[in-house]
Amino acid sequence: MKISKICCIGAGYVGGPTMAVIAKMNPNIQVTIVDINQERIDAWNDEDVSKLPIYEPGLAEIVAETRGKNLHFSTEIDKAIDESEMIFISVNTPTKTYGKGKGMAADLKYVELCARNIADVAKSDKIVVEKSTLPVRTAQAIKSILHNTGSDVKFDILSNPEFLAEGTAIQDLLNPDRVLIGGESEEAIEALANIYGSWVPQDQILRTNVWSSELSKLTANAFLAQRISSINAISELCERTEADVSEVARAIGMDSRIGSKFLNASIGFGGSCFQKDILNLVYIARSYGLNEVADYWEQVIILNDHQKRRFSDNLISTLYNTVSGKKIAMLGWAFKKDTNDTRESAAIYVADHLLNEQANIAVYDPKVPSKKVYSDLDYLQTRSQEENKDLVETFDNPYDAVKDAHAIAIMTEWDEFKTYDWKKIFELMKKPAFIFDGRNILNKDKMTEIGFEYSSIGK
Ligand code: NAD
Ligand code: UGA
Repeated sequence: MKISKICCIGAGYVGGPTMAVIAKMNPNIQVTIVDINQERIDAWNDEDVSKLPIYEPGLAEIVAETRGKNLHFSTEIDKAIDESEMIFISVNTPTKTYGKGKGMAADLKYVELCARNIADVAKSDKIVVEKSTLPVRTAQAIKSILHNTGSDVKFDILSNPEFLAEGTAIQDLLNPDRVLIGGESEEAIEALANIYGSWVPQDQILRTNVWSSELSKLTANAFLAQRISSINAISELCERTEADVSEVARAIGMDSRIGSKFLNASIGFGGSCFQKDILNLVYIARSYGLNEVADYWEQVIILNDHQKRRFSDNLISTLYNTVSGKKIAMLGWAFKKDTNDTRESAAIYVADHLLNEQANIAVYDPKVPSKKVYSDLDYLQTRSQEENKDLVETFDNPYDAVKDAHAIAIMTEWDEFKTYDWKKIFELMKKPAFIFDGRNILNKDKMTEIGFEYSSIGK
């Protein structure tokens, strides 16, 4: 089957970049990305591509090249579903904040709404592709909704999880380690494999059953996050033993059985997926009565929470056990560099903890707008919006942010932080001037020579 029209429901961090790359690599396929969020669609359609809703290196160029030709952004969801032969569901699947499974299970209401929408609108046969990260056996629920419409429209359901990481999304999409397609219908699988085949070698396109595909996505994230929690656990031990976590990571990473990636000790992983997906895995395991399995994976999250807490506790104890009324400058708010995404960023939790101790927080991030910083803190509901406004100030310039600060906390590994005039920063700060490098990006000897009291993770 040759596909000529695709629709993607959900114009987010996955839907936007993924469809932009599919459109670029398949000029003969018309790709329409739809979303219920009018503001987001307007931003995707902004003439000035520097104003796209998502910051991702290389994305603006591809959108500029394909938009209006074979890539379209719209809120006309029904029309796009009706016209397409293949529909990707790429909506958010956050952790449930209510009811059964609250705080653990994935909230599938947006996915279900999409399935119902497709069932209501479709008049011709469709291939429905799960692009969102979903609990194993979700395809069963989607199938049941789609097949109970009473019409004779045929739906094939595929699982095609996305493995891109934010900040490197375009590179990850252009050169994926693998593309995974799970399904029952060989014809549907090959139709999707053909689309990826425009640029991905066929032997890197894995075909599996639906359930393996769904579970592989959760498992990949759990394994990646586990590596970070493992090295972060060792970082604490390094701090007590005069071992250096970077040296340990290098030494173990050169073992080809272990590998060198994802061994950077940090303030703890953030982002919209690791925590949510592991909690989901834990929930699924527990719901099958597999308590040991659930406990095993839950420990990855427990360690991650500990690492964030440890960072702020260390900052407070080093500043003579009080940060009340002291200005703490936070460099970075995004959950990693090269993205404007702040979901589950460690910075939010570290700031919240310091605010409980009545610190004054100054925030500078190259890509995160001021209103996002406040909304992230307000969302926690730890204190009133007015109190957050009083205690937190955001800056467009790092040198203003650090002026008269007692300490700097580096929360995100933005490359530009390494290039700052650190002598000037030292002069601007109160003395003793402390740096807490949550990303191990600065050189300890250089910082100490300038006069800073420098501490990092695992050293
Ligand atoms: P996102 O929140 O950035 O985007 C989701 C979009 O879906 C939003 O714009 C929302 O308005 C829209 N939406 C929700 N319900 C809708 C509906 N019924 N109709 C139309 N639009 C609707 O989320 P994201 O980061 O793109 O993640 C999407 C999925 O992909 C999640 O399941 C996530 O786990 C998975 N994933 C994310 C990443 C990542 O790096 N962000 C990577 C791989 C997989
Ligand atoms: C992660 C996975 O890497 C992707 O493969 C997956 O598709 C995606 O989740 C998803 O399902 O959403 P992402 O969360 O975008 O991607 O970013 P990562 O690069 O994985 O970083 C996650 C967090 O871990 C960041 O806070 C990062 O700073 C931290 N991290 C990463 C470390 O602390 N140390 C490391 O060595 C690597």
